[in-house]
Amino acid sequence: MYLSILENILKMITKDYITDLKHKGKDNIAKLVSMQRDVGSINFILENLGQLPNDFNADFLYNLLEHNHAQVRLNAVRNIGKLNGNFDIKRLYSLYQHETDTGVRREIVSSIGRQRKHENKPLLFSFLKDTDPKIICQAIRGLLVFENDKEVEENLRPLVNHENEMVRTVIYKEYFAKEKSNKNTLPHTETYDFLKNVIVNADVLEALKFVPDESVHLTFTSPPYYNARDYSIYPSYQTYLEFLEKVFIETHRVTKEGRFLIVNTSPIIIPRVSRSHSSKRYPIPFDLHPYLVKNGWEFIDDIVWLKPEASVKNRIGGFMQHRKPLGYKPNSVTEYLMVYRKSSEKLLDWNIRSYDYKTVEESKVADGYETTNVWKIDPCFDKVHSAIFPVELCKRVIQYYSYVGDLVFDPFGGSGTMGRTAKALDRLFFLTEQEPKYFEYMQSKQRTQTLFNERETKFLTLEQFKETTI
Ligand SMILES: C[S@@+](CC[C@H](N)C(=O)[O-])C[C@H]1O[C@@H](n2cnc3c(N)ncnc32)[C@H](O)[C@@H]1O
Repeated sequence: MYLSILENILKMITKDYITDLKHKGKDNIAKLVSMQRDVGSINFILENLGQLPNDFNADFLYNLLEHNHAQVRLNAVRNIGKLNGNFDIKRLYSLYQHETDTGVRREIVSSIGRQRKHENKPLLFSFLKDTDPKIICQAIRGLLVFENDKEVEENLRPLVNHENEMVRTVIYKEYFAKEKSNKNTLPHTETYDFLKNVIVNADVLEALKFVPDESVHLTFTSPPYYNARDYSIYPSYQTYLEFLEKVFIETHRVTKEGRFLIVNTSPIIIPRVSRSHSSKRYPIPFDLHPYLVKNGWEFIDDIVWLKPEASVKNRIGGFMQHRKPLGYKPNSVTEYLMVYRKSSEKLLDWNIRSYDYKTVEESKVADGYETTNVWKIDPCFDKVHSAIFPVELCKRVIQYYSYVGDLVFDPFGGSGTMGRTAKALDRLFFLTEQEPKYFEYMQSKQRTQTLFNERETKFLTLEQFKETTI
């Protein structure tokens, strides 16, 4: 009777109507669905079923598992999952075995997981061997509800070495990060006095041996350009990359949880040996990237530093004359600022909430900030150091990626631009620089400029630095 009226108003199926119908007879929804001629209406009904009454006749839902539209199968699985307590797990599992749609497969695993039944554990363990990482993560979710369950832990812990990064992250967060965070470290916003406004004249790897874990809030640096400048000579490109890998592994260790590393590099060119050879170009940012992510740096952004064409070396001159294809060599007007975050199970919000109200207010970025990842900034030329940061570049990085009072680190200090800018923006700095001539240059800048003077800057040898750390 109810349904014959319904037949006349089929075109007006509403959510309220479905709810009403559901409670007025255990077979009503099955009948309503059977009357539909289009997939959209079936899905609408299935998506608006809400909670299912205890006496609900779900046979039609099992039949819909054979429907040729994936969304219908998915909605059928989702509703079967809502059946209080007893649903036919064998039928869901048999669908899982031949289903090709990843969403439906995931929903099957999710529905079985949501049952929270101990007897389903072996099935959930078997899903851990699926080839689709999303299925594995779903099965992990279903298993994690069994807290302090030895069998579950034995099956999940080994997945920390799983080939898929999403799976590894979930397991790491669940079992390993908690153990790690029990370590005794300083509060997130604080650092050690012996690192505040200190410049050490040493190889960065030597100096970092004396820097404790999790003491730095931000690292911004421009590493040596392989063998393109006189201050850095490496026996091979591979040696160079491995040296940088070591530096950034150590930087990772000393960086506070969830904080940033920004590396300024660009492809470089090593001039040809003679006219019978060609020059060689090394794509440093791209070659360095895998080393960083492998060692726990999560890639966040690529910022392009755009320079005026007149400020860069002219490579297009030859082509302008001959115009022959293949001989095209564009002027390189960009460098990269590759932005990474120390992988953390904590969200950025956690980092931000570590600061008090006053610090957050004082650190807020004023109007006029850059809204794109292309930063147009003029380069800076210096009579002593051949590759210094423009102050504007440091300013943006410091303002966008640190809070007032934070410790910023530059392992390749050079002329100290990063330190001076940090100071001017009420941050603290820690720099290392290997070359005595640049270290002395920084000291001379202290004498001529006020920035370093406002608060005492310590210029230390490695030995002196060691003494302060003991
Ligand atoms: C590209 S420059 C950095 C310039 C700096 N950003 C500035 O604004 O002046 C790289 C610097 O790293 C220094 N350097 C090279 N190897 C080093 C090492 N192992 N430890 C510390 N500094 C090193 C070089 O002497 C050079 O001054």
